[in-house]
Amino acid sequence: MKFTNTILPTLALLQPTQALVGISWSTSNGSKPLNEITFPMNVANATHESGYYFAQQFNFANQEDVGYTGLQPRPNKNSKPQLHAAFSSFIAGTTSADPNCSDGADGGAGVSCAVDIEGSYAHTYLLHINNTAGTTWTGTLIDAVSGNETRVGSYTLPTGSGGIQGDQMGFVEYYPWNAAGGHSCADLPRSAVTFGKPVSPGRIGALKDAYEYGDCVGKVGFETHRTLRGVEVSIGF
Ligand SMILES: *[C@@H]1O[C@H](CO)[C@@H](O)[C@H](O)[C@H]1NC(C)=O
Ligand SMILES: *[C@@H]1O[C@H](CO)[C@@H](O)[C@H](O)[C@H]1NC(C)=O
Ligand SMILES: *[C@@H]1O[C@H](CO)[C@@H](O)[C@H](O)[C@H]1NC(C)=O
Ligand SMILES: *[C@@H]1O[C@H](CO)[C@@H](O)[C@H](O)[C@H]1NC(C)=O
Ligand SMILES: *[C@@H]1O[C@H](CO)[C@@H](O)[C@H](O)[C@H]1NC(C)=O
Repeated sequence: MKFTNTILPTLALLQPTQALVGISWSTSNGSKPLNEITFPMNVANATHESGYYFAQQFNFANQEDVGYTGLQPRPNKNSKPQLHAAFSSFIAGTTSADPNCSDGADGGAGVSCAVDIEGSYAHTYLLHINNTAGTTWTGTLIDAVSGNETRVGSYTLPTGSGGIQGDQMGFVEYYPWNAAGGHSCADLPRSAVTFGKPVSPGRIGALKDAYEYGDCVGKVGFETHRTLRGVEVSIGF
């Protein structure tokens, strides 16, 4: 899935084409790019099956194309819960020599990095993105309960790329529906995620309410509410 041109006037830049749910995030001092940002996420109520991508999207200054970071549930392995974490760039000319990164993102330009971990779904995870040198950015998955850190990967953007811009949006995508052949809204499996407010040094992070979009609006049991952790979204049957 890739966000192309706009439908939402407030976002002006990008709009998901295939996802089910969007949620705008922002940080204070929005005009000054960030060197570091953390997106908290909790998938305690997600089923342990592949298919969903819970992601946050971000832009770098002087680049039009975006990056994503997020979590994807996976089936249990030996009765142990598994999670897939991703960190990608859709910017042409992005490079990486990282063992967990490969060229291309959703079939287009860029780089995709991913790791699979064993980890409790009850824990909140922090998707941490840091400017570790020049135009190089490193994605790290942090278990907020145990403190365990797993490097997802690292990539280098083309010269001239700037810091992370202070607002963008997250999404919930059911990626099997990206394949050709159509889908029935009534067949969407149930899942849930809580998006936490983004955290960045010296800034105040905020989330707007989650909203539905795409071709199944009003047909997939979408529910959302604000909790102490952030904005919870549940969807499907
Ligand atoms: C999971 O669902 C239960 C029951 O609806 C709810 O009380 C709890 O807050 C949810 N947890 C998260 C992390 O959303
Ligand atoms: C990530 O890289 C490490 C080191 O090469 C490797 O052991 C691990 O299997 C990789 N994980 C994934 C999901 O590719
Ligand atoms: C982020 O990267 C910088 C190097 O650019 C490093 O000094 C800093 O410790 C890193 N922050 C975290 C939280 O890892
Ligand atoms: C931390 O990660 C290591 C390996 O990545 C794993 O063996 C250990 O069980 C994890 N600890 C917790 C508390 O999740
Ligand atoms: C954010 O803006 C406030 C008010 O303009 C300013 O005092 C503060 O230094 C800014 N913080 C950062 C990290 O730029």
